[in-house]
Amino acid sequence: MGLQRIGVLTGGGDAPGLNPAIRALVWKGNELGIETVGIYDGWRGLMDGHADETWPLDHETVRYWDLDGGTHLGSSRTNPFNSKQGDKKVDLSDQVLRNIEKLKLDALVPIGGEDTLGVAAKLAAKGAPVVGIPKTIDKDLGGTDYTLGFDTSMRTCVDIIERSRTPAGSHHWVQVVEVMGRHAGHLALWSGLAGGAYITLIPGAPFDVDRVLALLKERLERGQKDRRLPRYAVLVVAEGALPKGGHEITLEQKLDAFGHARLGGIGAWLSEQIRNKTSWDSRAVALGHPQRGGTPSPIDRIMGHLFGSAAVDACVKKEWGKMVSAKGIAPACNISLVNLDEATKGLNLVDVKRHYNIERYQATRTIIA
Ligand code: F6P
Repeated sequence: MGLQRIGVLTGGGDAPGLNPAIRALVWKGNELGIETVGIYDGWRGLMDGHADETWPLDHETVRYWDLDGGTHLGSSRTNPFNSKQGDKKVDLSDQVLRNIEKLKLDALVPIGGEDTLGVAAKLAAKGAPVVGIPKTIDKDLGGTDYTLGFDTSMRTCVDIIERSRTPAGSHHWVQVVEVMGRHAGHLALWSGLAGGAYITLIPGAPFDVDRVLALLKERLERGQKDRRLPRYAVLVVAEGALPKGGHEITLEQKLDAFGHARLGGIGAWLSEQIRNKTSWDSRAVALGHPQRGGTPSPIDRIMGHLFGSAAVDACVKKEWGKMVSAKGIAPACNISLVNLDEATKGLNLVDVKRHYNIERYQATRTIIA
């Protein structure tokens, strides 16, 4: 018998583009006579005590989901391979396999980043019929040139960075803007360039605080000598950027089920360094979760569409253990399939040699003076 029922879930941090992908999955499935069932709250929704409640998704239910940010299915950072029962760590992955069968899912499409799809890869190795869709505003998942949410989030970051220039310019201060990016600097680097940031600090290229201060001095002193020149600077820093010889700054030490600490605070720390070590005033803003919010951009709608329908095709062909992937520049990219275990083995980080000037702390081949 052909494929009759696909389950879909969204895991990890939310991102604009998830709902458009679910809509495409449902509509493409519909066309082929396949039913789609929504699983709530990521992998948690397939664990005992949660799997009894699912959401049958029909054509009209999802009609306007292309316009919606976040995920209507809800999300969580649950790791069935590393769960807790009291104080004990337990592997509950067999519960997930049992519930896939119990819910009569012929296929399961998890939409997520390195963690959610890392679980999918391990479940596929245990025989689960899974096909993944890549999502993360960090764009750091391996095996694909695009992950849902990046474009919308970059636009939001650019908006704040460029808006920061007028208050900083009027009051002559250094505005530090902290953006997300746990391991990768894609979001910081490209939003910094588009928004006109004077300095952008990214993970993968540890920075020297004194060099940062010297660069600021150069620009601000020029402005002091000639009133027509700017007496302000905007500095963008990714939450995972590291000062040379220093360590990541975290909001809390507790690790999640995938072993990650919550990063945050590097912007405020840098701002303090500037205030303490120079005569300039400095303010910091951390964009936090709103940078994952809002209506999906046209790119995220289109990519959701392409990924969602390609995932249904892959399910029909029983391409288990694969992830839909984009090669080339979205939206006119090539959509193909890659192995989930390959995609989740290593992260896609900024190619520092190619795209980052480690002397000027800016994208290469650009001059923001
Ligand atoms: O992976 C996406 C991401 O937004 C990262 O950039 C960030 O470090 C992390 O999620 C934040 O996680 P949480 O939403 O659990 O605070």
